[in-house]
Amino acid sequence: MPQDTLTITDNRTGQTYTLPVENGTIRAMDLRKIKTGPEDFGLMTYDPAFMNTASCRSAITYIDGDRGILRYRGYPIEVLAEHCTFLEVTYLILFGELPTAAQLKDWVYEITHHTMLHETTKKFMEGYRYNAHPMVMLVSTVAALSNVYPDSRNIHDPASRLLQIKRLIGKMPSIAAMSYRHMVGFPYVYPDNDLTYTENFMNMLWKMVEPKYAANPVIARALDILFVLHADHEQNCSTNTMRCVGSAHTDPYLATASAAAALSGPLHGGANEEVLRMLDEIGTKDNVPAYIKKIKEGKGKLMGFGHRVYKNYDPRAKIIKWAADRVFEVTGRNTKIEIALELERIALEDDYFVTRKLYPNVDFYSGIMYQAMGFKPEMFTVLFAIPRAAGWLAQWQEMLTDPEQKIARPRQVWVGQEVRSFVPMEQRSAAGVGTR
Ligand code: CMC
Repeated sequence: MPQDTLTITDNRTGQTYTLPVENGTIRAMDLRKIKTGPEDFGLMTYDPAFMNTASCRSAITYIDGDRGILRYRGYPIEVLAEHCTFLEVTYLILFGELPTAAQLKDWVYEITHHTMLHETTKKFMEGYRYNAHPMVMLVSTVAALSNVYPDSRNIHDPASRLLQIKRLIGKMPSIAAMSYRHMVGFPYVYPDNDLTYTENFMNMLWKMVEPKYAANPVIARALDILFVLHADHEQNCSTNTMRCVGSAHTDPYLATASAAAALSGPLHGGANEEVLRMLDEIGTKDNVPAYIKKIKEGKGKLMGFGHRVYKNYDPRAKIIKWAADRVFEVTGRNTKIEIALELERIALEDDYFVTRKLYPNVDFYSGIMYQAMGFKPEMFTVLFAIPRAAGWLAQWQEMLTDPEQKIARPRQVWVGQEVRSFVPMEQRSAAGVGTR
């Protein structure tokens, strides 16, 4: 019997099956051989929320949740955050290798020259209500780019794919900044090609009447580090959405918009905005024990805590905590940090959080840092979406070029009615159904 196999005995039939084990997995399709008879469909796995299902092979991002490890293409996140710019990391994520100086120069030039939006896109954004949420504006404007670039439907052409990738990475900060300016009622600012990716984003956000925007280098570097930390994160909810929608051969703008919509949820990227609301609700450090008590009684969740994969400290949260101190040297200490540190201190000692392995995640400190930088909470998830677009696109490309991938289509376990006889209207009764 080969060692890398799994032997299963079906107690319903007494039959034994031997399945190959590869990379710690068995193929779900191998289970279909396990049948009680010729009419039987075959065995399936039932895995709501994909708790234990690998949906792809990937060589982009590696996470070891028990040990708190995150690597892009083999490089530890701590090393990349210290030594690389965000655009350097996007190159790594997309092409698999760190760029040479010449490759990086070309890459930065290409992305910089795709930051401008078509004027009709700007007009489209102007049509939103004055109080539109910037994340909603971002999701729908990214989708609308599908109309501006109909060539993007050519998803099987590598050159076309690369062009759309450059356009999207280039335009995400422009759309994000316009969404913000719209919310605060300021005129939109056009990109400035002399500036770096993050400096230019700051320019489009905060330039007022000065002829040339000068970004604070500490804030620009901190923002760049945050972008590095958020660039990709394996098969999370939004990345899975990108792959799922992309598997239908939908164009990358619509697929990215879908992924961004998934990100906006409060259990995912929307958590950073919720953390700030929670800290506001707590108000002062003294109220922390009472708040923790409430959470333990099942009244809500401690936002910014817990993770499906990390069952140890989220390595990104550690780096953000470090970067926050650099930012506070410029901006002054955000008073919310005291409440956050107290929450963390108590939670890390409390049995409820310890036994459930609930640690601060990336969203716990990022919001506090963003607020100190001058961002409004409504912008926090937008700030997550800008860098994550690079990860989504790398995963989308990997999915499209993987010969094993097809349109994503899970199975279900049927728990509904067997076939029923039609009931004419006059014989129907509302009993037991209630008013729906
Ligand atoms: N506060 C209090 N209890 C929690 C929390 C929390 N933040 N997170 C999980 N739990 C409890 C949960 O109630 C459950 O308890 P019990 O076993 O008694 O029923 C146990 O811990 C296991 O939780 P789960 O819901 O089965 O875990 P999950 O893997 O399905 O959920 C999560 C992961 C991130 C959705 C969840 O921890 C959560 O809702 N956290 C708060 C929202 C948040 O910070 N999200 C950002 C995630 S990181 C960035 C990103 O991915 O976008």
